[in-house]
Amino acid sequence: MTQHSSRQQRDILVTSALPYANGPIHLGHLLEYIQTDIWVRYQNMRGQNCYYVCADDAHGTAIMLRAEREGISSESLIARIRDEHQEDFGGFHIRFDNYYTTHSEENRQFSEYIYRQLQENDHIATRKITQAYDPEKEMFLADRFIKGTCPKCKTEDQYGDNCEACGATYTPAELINPRSAVSGATPIEKESEHYFFRLPEFADFLGKWTRSGTLQPQVANKLAEWLDAGLQEWDISRDAPYFGFEIPDAPGKYFYVWLDAPIGYLASFKNLCDREGIDFEHFWKADSTAEVYHFIGKDIINFHALFWPSMLHSAGFRTPTAVLAHGFVTVNGKKMSKSRGTFIMARTYLDHLNPEYLRYYFASKLTGGVDDMDLNLEDFAARVNSDLVGKVVNIASRSAGFITKRFDGQLGTVTEQDKLREFIDAGEEIADFYETREFGRAMRRIMELADIANQYVNDEQPWVIAKQEGQDANLQAICTNALNMFHLLMTYLAPVLPETAKASEAFLNAPLDWNNRSERLENHGINKFKPLMNRVDMAQIEKMLDASKEELPAATGAKPANSAAKEEKAKAPEPLAEEIDFDTFAKVDLRVAKIVKAERVDGADKLLQLTLDIGLGERNVFAGIKSAYEPEELTGRLTVMVANLKPRKMKFGMSEGMVLAAGPGGKDIHILSPDSGATPGMRIM
Ligand code: 2FM
Ligand code: ZN
Repeated sequence: MTQHSSRQQRDILVTSALPYANGPIHLGHLLEYIQTDIWVRYQNMRGQNCYYVCADDAHGTAIMLRAEREGISSESLIARIRDEHQEDFGGFHIRFDNYYTTHSEENRQFSEYIYRQLQENDHIATRKITQAYDPEKEMFLADRFIKGTCPKCKTEDQYGDNCEACGATYTPAELINPRSAVSGATPIEKESEHYFFRLPEFADFLGKWTRSGTLQPQVANKLAEWLDAGLQEWDISRDAPYFGFEIPDAPGKYFYVWLDAPIGYLASFKNLCDREGIDFEHFWKADSTAEVYHFIGKDIINFHALFWPSMLHSAGFRTPTAVLAHGFVTVNGKKMSKSRGTFIMARTYLDHLNPEYLRYYFASKLTGGVDDMDLNLEDFAARVNSDLVGKVVNIASRSAGFITKRFDGQLGTVTEQDKLREFIDAGEEIADFYETREFGRAMRRIMELADIANQYVNDEQPWVIAKQEGQDANLQAICTNALNMFHLLMTYLAPVLPETAKASEAFLNAPLDWNNRSERLENHGINKFKPLMNRVDMAQIEKMLDASKEELPAATGAKPANSAAKEEKAKAPEPLAEEIDFDTFAKVDLRVAKIVKAERVDGADKLLQLTLDIGLGERNVFAGIKSAYEPEELTGRLTVMVANLKPRKMKFGMSEGMVLAAGPGGKDIHILSPDSGATPGMRIM
């Protein structure tokens, strides 16, 4: 059971991250909005008082420069993009209670108010810093607006923080032949005064807050590492020219976009409250009993779980009930890519496919954790066709015709009480899965029920009964039972499939009402059945991929701010190592190994300690893969190890072998796994 089993209505405010107002919504974004929308629809179906707000994140250098390039004002750019975003979200049935912009009067007021509170509490510091400056454009340059030649591998045209070819990280000052990505000028160093939020003052507060059930376990562990490493003051100011809010009493200084972006959650909600007479204070005062949830991607956890709660705490607001992170989207196992046509814009998808397919596919694979999500397009088509069309809709299409033709649209009475009870009772379990964002488990349970319903229809064979004399009551009962099962299935699927749910309500002539789901549809008139959903055709998917190859957002010159949206760049292939003969290779004993335990190592930055089962007993191995894996996600996995490597004494103990992994380093490390069917100890030939 969840902790919220009481019948009292909950007041809940939910947000998704605010998308930047400088580019279109793509499938990488949509995972989050679909996840949030399903959760909110579920809450409202259960009778909670749940609001969902969002906004465009309208400030910052990238937006200012794009508007300049288009020869329009930043204001008209963000107005246009906001319209486009709203259309895209609407297309996917994302139902916000308010969709606002961070460039609003409410947001200016809250930003100034919070800043002044921070100042009063002595949580703001000022000091001069030196930064790269574009003397032609007369503006300071963030690292991602500087390009040059990699100091390590000498690849040209690399951004100021790391090299896409060799993976080296460096400062812009180390680039060979650096230049501004804005004007091409050679940057100079220049000093200016900056404003800092004194985050280290909040170490104790954050230590408690991050361990109080506000974060998923994996995220809380990451936070604990950051907190252990020590917090830095956060630079919250940017110099003119900048598109944003000027800092009070600091002419020419602007709030950094990430300062006023989360405040945009407050501002969007305030705007809704003013319009609809909702009590803003009740949701945001320090001791509020309302709940506040932020759904975000895992790349922006620091902003939401360090800076944001600290700012709220200092300024006297309540802190979020929970920050809920999800992973990144890949398509067919790889980062979204223009050349493969898998960098798919919301609009392109909508031109070719039904949005509910994607809502269902994402739901069927979502967990409450932060794992990445692969959209495998063949699996997508297969799952939608088999589950939604083949299982769920099929129940109705096999029973409805008889009711319409033979019984003038009238249902009879339910005769399969036990079966129906099972469907009704399953609602509790499914509810818990929705509540804990285990949507995949919810979908699997619903499909188990759909299998039961289909089996029932197969066993009863209404199409045979229909031809037999004197079987009218029986036929009507079979179809009534099946349609009652369908009614419950659609009730459980309604948060995921809002349009099909609406069409089902019209067909059944009855609401999909979760809380009153034990009311049967008996002696009740239904409407003529119309196909509720069509099969996905691979040809439609191919067309969408072709169209995607042709469209991509205009390049900004700068590196994209959001790593999830980054397009894959071709990596320089590594030169081959020295040639060896077969006998030399055959000396290497490669084995399938099961990771029975994976642990962090006290004091080690890069290593995880792995206990590997290779059939012949367990081995202890220290592997330099900490930057890419959480220990939890490795436990139970099969991998490949060099089993006859001479044990090596390391600082933290003996390492008795090596696991095989690919990739340049950092997050981009991938341990090898054998194909299914392999077992620990198998030798690799
Ligand atoms: O990463 C992004 O796309 C940001 N625009 C998200 C902002 S979320 C919030 F803090 F406003
Ligand atoms: Zn390099």
